[in-house]
Amino acid sequence: MAILVTGGAGFIGSHTCVELLNAGEDIVVMDNFYNSNSRALDGIRKITGKDFKFYEDDMLDIAAVDQIFAENDIEQVIHFAGYKCVPESVQKPLMYYSNNLRGTFNILETMKKYGCTKFVFSSSATVYGIPATVPVKEDFPLSAINPYGSTKLIIENLCREMYAADNTWTMILLRYFNPVGAHESGLIGEDPNGIPNNLMPYLTQVAVGRLPYLNIFGNDYPTPDGTCVRDYIHVVDLAVGHVKALKKLEEKPEVRVYNLGTGHGYSVLDVVHAFEKACGHEVKYQIKPRRAGDIAMCYCDPTKAKEELGWEAQYGIEEMCQDSWRWQSQNPDGYATEEK
Ligand code: UD1
Repeated sequence: MAILVTGGAGFIGSHTCVELLNAGEDIVVMDNFYNSNSRALDGIRKITGKDFKFYEDDMLDIAAVDQIFAENDIEQVIHFAGYKCVPESVQKPLMYYSNNLRGTFNILETMKKYGCTKFVFSSSATVYGIPATVPVKEDFPLSAINPYGSTKLIIENLCREMYAADNTWTMILLRYFNPVGAHESGLIGEDPNGIPNNLMPYLTQVAVGRLPYLNIFGNDYPTPDGTCVRDYIHVVDLAVGHVKALKKLEEKPEVRVYNLGTGHGYSVLDVVHAFEKACGHEVKYQIKPRRAGDIAMCYCDPTKAKEELGWEAQYGIEEMCQDSWRWQSQNPDGYATEEK
C-alpha cells in the first residue's frame, strides 16, 4: 500500500514527502521536473535517510500514469502537480487549463480504473476570489479571478460532483494561504524558474545579491502600514497538514475542505523587517504602484483544520524567515548551486 505524490519534487510536494516518510508512510513520487529539480529528491532522501520509488513522468501521459498504478498498490493520492504562476496563467490561459485540468482528469480517471478513491487536492486561497471580509472561512463564497484560480475552482467542483455521483470517494481539498520557509536542514526549499513573482523568493534573492532591490507593490492600502496583509504559512506546517489529512481520508467517504494558514496576517513591511532580522542585514526596497489583482488583506480562520484534523501551524514569521534565508544563503542559485 503506497501513497502516490504527484509533483513530489516541487516546493510543497518535496516538504510533504519528507513528513510522509518521517511518519513511516510508503510513497511513490511522480514529477516531470517542469518547475522542479531532481536534487529535491536527493534532499528528501538525505533528510529522511529513506528511499522511495520515483517516476519521471508527465501527468498528461495517461499511459505513464496507468503504469504507475499497475506497478504499485496505490491506496491514496496527494495531487500537487500543476502550473502555479498567476501572471503566466493570465498570458497563457489555454496552457493552464489544458495542463492542470487534463492532468487531473488523467489522475482521477486512473484512480477510478484501479478502485483507488482517496484523494487529497492541493487547492489555494485563490478560490475565495476577493473575499468580502477577513478572516476567511471555508464556507465563504468562491470565485476565480484568473485562469490559475479557475483551474483550482473547477477541480474543487469536479471533486464535489464526483462524490455526489459516487459516494465511495473521499476527497480532501486543502486551501493553502501563502506558503514560505524551507526545511530547517537547508537541503530543500523554493526555487522558482526565472524572476520570482511571490514575495518571499523575491526577498531572499535580493538578500543574497541576485536581485538589486525588492519592489513593494503599493503602500496606500487600507491596512495598518499601507502594504498588503497576507497569511504566510511555513511549508513544513503545510506538509504536516497533509499527513493529518491522510488520517482523515481513512474515516469515511466525504468531501472535506480545510484552510491551511496560521490565522495571522502580516504586511509586506512586517515580512521585510522580520527577514532583515533573520538575515542580519538591511534589504533594499522601493515602493512601486499597486500590482493588478492584489487585495488589501487576506488571512484565514484555521479553526476547522484544528478541530477536525488536529492540525495547527507551529511556526511563526521568525522561523519562516530564518528557514527561507538558510535555504537561499546555502543555495544562492537554488538547486543549480554547485555542491561544495
Ligand atoms: C499569490 C497568488 C495566489 C497564489 C499564491 C501562492 C497573485 C495575484 N496571487 O498570492 O493566487 O495562491 O501567490 O503563493 O499572484 N509583493 C510585493 N513585491 C513582490 C511580490 C509580492 O510587494 O515582489 C506583495 C504583493 O503585492 C502581496 C504580497 O507581497 O501584497 C504577497 O504577494 P505574493 O507572494 O505574490 O502572494 P499573493 O499575491 O498573496
